Amino acid sequence: MNVQKQVLQNTLNIGNKYFLYKQKKIGSGAFGEVFLGQNRQNSQLIAIKIEKLKNNLNPQLKYETSLLRYLQGSEGIPQYYYSIKLNDYYFLLMELLGPNLENLLNQMNRHFTIRTIITLGIQMINIIENLHKAYVIHRDIKPENFVIGINKKNKIYIIDFGLSKRFRNPKNGEHIPYKDGKTLVGTAKYSSVYTHLGIEQSRRDDLESMIYTLIYLFNGNLPWDNLKAKNKNEKYQKILEVKMNISNEKLFKKLPKEFECLLDYVRSLHFDGIPDYDMMKGKLSGLLEAKFSIDNVFYDWNEKKKNESSNECINLSTASDKKSDQESIINLKKN
Ligand SMILES: Nc1ncnc2c1ncn2[C@@H]1O[C@H](COP(=O)(O)OP(=O)(O)O)[C@@H](O)[C@H]1O
Ligand SMILES: [Mg+2]
Repeated sequence: MNVQKQVLQNTLNIGNKYFLYKQKKIGSGAFGEVFLGQNRQNSQLIAIKIEKLKNNLNPQLKYETSLLRYLQGSEGIPQYYYSIKLNDYYFLLMELLGPNLENLLNQMNRHFTIRTIITLGIQMINIIENLHKAYVIHRDIKPENFVIGINKKNKIYIIDFGLSKRFRNPKNGEHIPYKDGKTLVGTAKYSSVYTHLGIEQSRRDDLESMIYTLIYLFNGNLPWDNLKAKNKNEKYQKILEVKMNISNEKLFKKLPKEFECLLDYVRSLHFDGIPDYDMMKGKLSGLLEAKFSIDNVFYDWNEKKKNESSNECINLSTASDKKSDQESIINLKKN
């Protein structure tokens, strides 16, 4: 087989301007799969998220695409390139970014240093604040939905807007109404207490999930991991019980008191309360200054990288950890 034919068999043409590399899956989550792609004109590598369409229903990825386009230019948002529906698939083409925080946690023996946690916290609050300024709540804040830049390894990006929602009417600025009896949207492990209780999510809930994310990245686990239950509802109920009843010592372990204050603060916010993002960032910056005299951005993974040769393409193909990542839910041969 000649090389050209081989390349064609391993790639999918998208909109005449892009290739998708069928063998190069770089990630997957509950909804989509993400592949490596390339711009044919300038050779730039890109990321392509794919959703297989079911029963002609409106694809979730189309909704995500509209939000990603709307959020362009906001802090820590990947650049949008192109989107298209081809046969039974919807494709979202965007900026190629680096590994997610769960991947990095595994690379760092499942522990980040306190300096990394505080710096992450400050960058995350900044990103979430800017998302909220655009009237959007994320609703699935967790390690897998934050990635670092491919070259900018000191920069954090937020991804995956499939569950995100506008919490204000763009025309008159009105906040969505308080509701209860809602089913859980997001990931139970990182869900806020109010979300477990069925209350419509708002800005406070993104921040509560962010704090659980930071605790997880520091300790390598959360106290409600691995609870035994007969079904999903029982499991969610048990997670809620632990979240509501656990002592601060058991939840925060060796994390500084400032993190407890932040959790108390976000849990005390009203449904439509405007979080004091500056106060939250100030608490963490103060902690950083007190503990470390130099205030440049420091992340554990950059220290490790210094001693290793870093071939981005090799890193890309091993970026995802889950076994299921190897099994593609899509059959790209169709095209
Ligand atoms: N632009 C991107 N660049 C690099 N990796 C990405 C990109 N978008 C997503 N990923 C990887 O793919 C994984 C799944 O993508 P995500 O959008 O979160 O899908 P899902 O909606 O299924 O959770 C992410 O956790 C991340 O590791
Ligand atoms: Mg995701």
